[in-house]
Amino acid sequence: MSHVFYRTERNRPIRAASADGATIADASGKRYIDASGGAAVACLGHNHPRVIAAIERQLRTLDYVHSTFFTHSPAEELADWLIRLVPKRGTPDDLDRAYFCSGGSEAVEAALKMARQYFVEIGQPQRRTVVSRRQSYHGNTLGALSAGGNMARRALYEPLLFDVAHAPPCYAYRDKRADETDEAYGARVADAVEAEILARPPGTVMAFIAEPIVGATLGAVPPVPGYFKRVREICDRHGVLMILDEIMCGMGRTGSTFVFEEEGVAPDLVVVAKGLGGGFQPVGAVLATRRIYAAIQDGSGALKHGHTYEAHPVACAGALEVQKVIAEEDLLARVRRLGATLSDALVDRLGNHRHVGDIRGRGLFLGVEIVADRGSKAPFDPGLAVHDRIRRHAMESGLIIYPMGGTIDGKRGDHFIVSPPFTLDESLVGVIVDGVASAVDRAIAELPREAARAVGH
Ligand SMILES: Cc1ncc(COP(=O)(O)O)c(C=O)c1O
Repeated sequence: MSHVFYRTERNRPIRAASADGATIADASGKRYIDASGGAAVACLGHNHPRVIAAIERQLRTLDYVHSTFFTHSPAEELADWLIRLVPKRGTPDDLDRAYFCSGGSEAVEAALKMARQYFVEIGQPQRRTVVSRRQSYHGNTLGALSAGGNMARRALYEPLLFDVAHAPPCYAYRDKRADETDEAYGARVADAVEAEILARPPGTVMAFIAEPIVGATLGAVPPVPGYFKRVREICDRHGVLMILDEIMCGMGRTGSTFVFEEEGVAPDLVVVAKGLGGGFQPVGAVLATRRIYAAIQDGSGALKHGHTYEAHPVACAGALEVQKVIAEEDLLARVRRLGATLSDALVDRLGNHRHVGDIRGRGLFLGVEIVADRGSKAPFDPGLAVHDRIRRHAMESGLIIYPMGGTIDGKRGDHFIVSPPFTLDESLVGVIVDGVASAVDRAIAELPREAARAVGH
């Protein structure tokens, strides 16, 4: 009899016992390939000796201090490390400061508060509205949940959430019209962000927030070229801050430290987590521009926000070591190479599968969208929870992938993410792809015969 408050008793988690490299073993000794790194977290796999040694060293040197009283080398060095990686233009709009916290949602909360405080400090207190996008996820705390557009996760808490304007996602597979180029589609959905800003009283929108590559909610969907550049112009035109949520897609998962570099834009605030610490420690960060930092310091003089465990020395030391390993072992190049191999193998194996609608993503951040019918892109009946069946079959065969339903609108649609460690042994690519293909086939084979009939069309 357990006393743990599980999320669900219907699908009780398996008891994990140990983990090493890309493998997790459960209490019975069964082994699983961690082909999703949890939720795109374990970028160095598990039980990494260098990171563990750094964490142990830090625990013995300085385990905990409160950030009100002390700063320390791990936070200072990690901030220097991250800011050094950011492209610079030598203007106040360069990202210049890092605020450390304990995870993604906390980072999003802090970024929203920084945006709000910035406008109060510069004499624009009327700016309070956030524009985000439908089918996005920014975390589960109430502020982050408000900012998000994952309708399934929001529904229950809707009465507790603050008002947010939702623009459409940039989701070419489903929303780009047949007669549209990528550029025209990107311009159309970017302009929809501007329409949301214009729909509010002038000067009241504070920030636009988006995942550059939409993770769990859409299944690793990159933007079309030019979309974020146009949104940046729109934000500038209306004095709106751009917050990019790179919690899932950033910190090397696509083959670059920051996805905003790949999109050629400079955000005002960036939030990172997951791959920052690789799961060895709970850690997240907000990177803020010199302009935002100065407005707060030269204005009221203090950020009105904080947490007991912010800038935790052990979390910062663990994250710093993770980032050093990535740099010293040239793992970003490895992500690009291995990502191409994995993506090609998935396309070879599943590209013509009658129930695979789309295979997308970047680097080692790949998504597969499952459909009932490829021609019409009709999804399966959500009641069949096809994504969860795929997850179950994969796990039975010792493979972990990250599934989600509600791809289209929070209710309909199924996808899963494949996001293995950057250090994955190349010989496992074939094993992963075989496991994925067989989980898809077995999940679909067990559906009632009439289930392959399209729904909603
Ligand atoms: C894009 C994105 N933002 C925010 C979060 C929230 O992060 P956390 O679960 O660490 O609070 C997640 C987590 O999945 C995420 O994927």
